[in-house]
Amino acid sequence: MSLDSLPDRSAWRALSAHAGSMKTRHLRDIFHADPDRGTRLRLEAVGWYFDYSKNLVTDETLALLLQLARESGVAERRDAMFAGEHINVSEDRAVLHVALRMPEDTPLEVDGVDVVADVHRVLARMSAFAEAVRSGEWRGHTGKPIRNVVNVGIGGSDLGPVMAYEALRHFAQRELTFRFVSNVDATDFVEAVRDLDPEETLFIISSKTFGTLETLTNATSARAWIVDHLVDERAVAKHFVAVSTNAEKVAAFGIDVTNMFEFWDWVGGRYSMESAIGLSTMIAIGPENFTAMLQGFHAMDEHFKSAPLEENLPVLLGLLALWNHDFLGYPTVGVMPYDQYLHRLPAYLQQLTMESNGKHVTLDGQHVTYDTGPVYWGEPGTNGQHSFYQLIHQGTTKVPVDFIAFAKSLNPLGEHHDILISNVFAQAEALAFGKTEGELRAEGASEAVIPHRVMEGNRPSNVLLTKELSPYVLGSLVALYEHSVFVQGTVWGIDSFDQWGVELGKQLSVKIIPELTCDATPELDHDSSTNTLITHYRSLKQTGPDHDHR
Ligand code: F6P
Repeated sequence: MSLDSLPDRSAWRALSAHAGSMKTRHLRDIFHADPDRGTRLRLEAVGWYFDYSKNLVTDETLALLLQLARESGVAERRDAMFAGEHINVSEDRAVLHVALRMPEDTPLEVDGVDVVADVHRVLARMSAFAEAVRSGEWRGHTGKPIRNVVNVGIGGSDLGPVMAYEALRHFAQRELTFRFVSNVDATDFVEAVRDLDPEETLFIISSKTFGTLETLTNATSARAWIVDHLVDERAVAKHFVAVSTNAEKVAAFGIDVTNMFEFWDWVGGRYSMESAIGLSTMIAIGPENFTAMLQGFHAMDEHFKSAPLEENLPVLLGLLALWNHDFLGYPTVGVMPYDQYLHRLPAYLQQLTMESNGKHVTLDGQHVTYDTGPVYWGEPGTNGQHSFYQLIHQGTTKVPVDFIAFAKSLNPLGEHHDILISNVFAQAEALAFGKTEGELRAEGASEAVIPHRVMEGNRPSNVLLTKELSPYVLGSLVALYEHSVFVQGTVWGIDSFDQWGVELGKQLSVKIIPELTCDATPELDHDSSTNTLITHYRSLKQTGPDHDHR
């Protein structure tokens, strides 16, 4: 399918003109003119209730956005992804995280291999291993059962596992302790293991490439910690497993490849939490709950694949985010889960959205002439309300918000849950409709304070509501955001599946590492700022401990 460049598509041009008039409108008036829109601009799919009526959109906006999706070939590219075509063009790879959650009886041949059969072969190995750890059958080197599981990885090899563990803690085997080490800052490792017994600790070294400096540095320290305490190199066999696509490097590190769980180059790091990278999740919640999570992912995949665009949840979520960013000019999106278990979801979504769509060239290498990926950020409610919501309500930058809420708490306690959820609805209402001078005056507010208390409103939000957090629901939620990222990336015509932008910093740090040792005398040939920073760091390192600052 040959496409016009994005700014030349008729829907894009129509949306640009339409945005001019929409910017002069207010959600108060839009609701006044269309009082039933709250019952109309909503969608129910895969158990989710999606209210998008509080966006600055009309039926015309929505029709144009859907036209844009059609003119951008969203459905065709989606089908190409599901068929295993190499839609990751800059790395010449298929993009098949959807195959990770396909049922066993749905073969999918890619480049001559049934990838679904491979997925289920690895899932079976993961299940057997997870059960062995959970039951105490897998013993450490000295014969003690494993009580602590430490996932060592970074980026997609950390954020998915830690987010999923925290999200599904309620379903976890509580006798086991889970820790996640990602940062190359030694503090992360030292604090993670300081109260753990090495004899009862299993490390999962998670790295797609097995070449990531942070992970290998932490893994090396973990191996030394085990070998030093257990005084036997052979202990590695019982205390280390690897998750990777790279068997050679796993073996070179010293982990027996029989203790390696594989995945494939068609799984992007940030799309890997339900692959073997989810081994810690499976140990925590058990294979049955893990399967339920996969089913949730798959249900959203099927919906994305088959629902008409206008009733397609990821399509609508993606198009509305694009409308807010490209046409209304809002630079960020706030994701506010009103559930403490989802407290790492915003961090997870930051990698998913920004590593995917933070790109400035199109698939054919042209510099874009429009904005691509917005900044995603967030915190769980209601904590955020008592820190940055002030800016969201009255600041000069508008922040479209995705509220995520559940009708039932996993920990029902008194009035807590109704209080929590009342805040979701209240915040969305306040953002949209605000408070006028007239309303304040009618309430008897003093004239001097009225300008400070006026809430302009007209701030868009979505509400995603479902019954209860579960492994299935988490899977469907993650798949929803994955596909909404896909929709946006497809319209922008960028490669949402590569991440070249992270490479330069990595290369430069490898050059700088030897320059930081105090006895190093290599000629520094960076810019004057970097040279001076390095020199100053070296001289600070040589000074004694500064007890006054403790
Ligand atoms: O540096 C970015 C990145 O490549 C991410 O895309 C990836 O999730 C992370 O590093 C970790 O990579 P690996 O799993 O290969 O260690």
